[in-house]
Amino acid sequence: MKKWGILTVCLVLAGSLLAGCGNKPSEQAGDTTGSAKESKTIVLGTSADFPPYEFHKMVDGKDQIVGFDIEIAKQIAADMGAKLEVKDMDFKALLGELSSGRVDFVISGMTPDENRKKEVDFSNNYYKAEQAVVVREQDKDKYKTMKSLEGVSFGIQTGSIQEDIAKSIPGAKITGLGKINDIIMQLNSGRVDASIMEKPVAEAFIKNVKGLTIAEAVPEYQEDGYAIGVKKGNKELVDQINKTLDRLKSENKIDQFVSEASDLAVQK
Ligand code: ARG
Repeated sequence: MKKWGILTVCLVLAGSLLAGCGNKPSEQAGDTTGSAKESKTIVLGTSADFPPYEFHKMVDGKDQIVGFDIEIAKQIAADMGAKLEVKDMDFKALLGELSSGRVDFVISGMTPDENRKKEVDFSNNYYKAEQAVVVREQDKDKYKTMKSLEGVSFGIQTGSIQEDIAKSIPGAKITGLGKINDIIMQLNSGRVDASIMEKPVAEAFIKNVKGLTIAEAVPEYQEDGYAIGVKKGNKELVDQINKTLDRLKSENKIDQFVSEASDLAVQK
């Protein structure tokens, strides 16, 4: 709770900084991009079903979107002297919203795979995670190898790289869903038998939801990590974002945000 108080204050500060900035046309420290001076709000697109990266949480009696990615977004906005607005949507809608300009950037634990790179541009990578298979506790012994997952029914987030992973498992029956919370419900109620998601997310869910666990089978997927998406050709914003990422990395903030967000994700 205490942490959040401080963060809220920071946000408000970022907002008032901006208000001051709007009154005088002179430069603001650290702001080197032309567009940042004019735009007062920067809009983040995310799918807030992905603890500890982005998820809903009641903070001070209010439903808020919090997490590691959100902290990074706040830092980017602050470095730009802009106010952050967060738009929550299904994961599969994110790239379209970015291309059409309805959101300025996407931070959503997104893997910058080749197909996506054709559609949008990405920042440098900021985090890496392995894949995990989530199953019901009583089924744990059934799924020790990838072979044992052949022909199994999977609940998978539509448009995610996990969709590709599941499709590569022979005979897998895939139910595509918009939000991971719905996948977790389907898994719990026995409508699907397994799901694939990044390990930190799997760990956050199994800590909060009784009866689920991580199977021994580990899907193979070579991924470079997560990156932040911007509209194709928006070099200015990518540069700005990379600058903030460099700063956060050099200040060891990334690891700090991860551990704070992980604590928050399991806190009742
Ligand atoms: N890393 C995976 C991907 O890029 C899953 C990301 C899902 N993110 C989310 N916020 N639900 O496809």
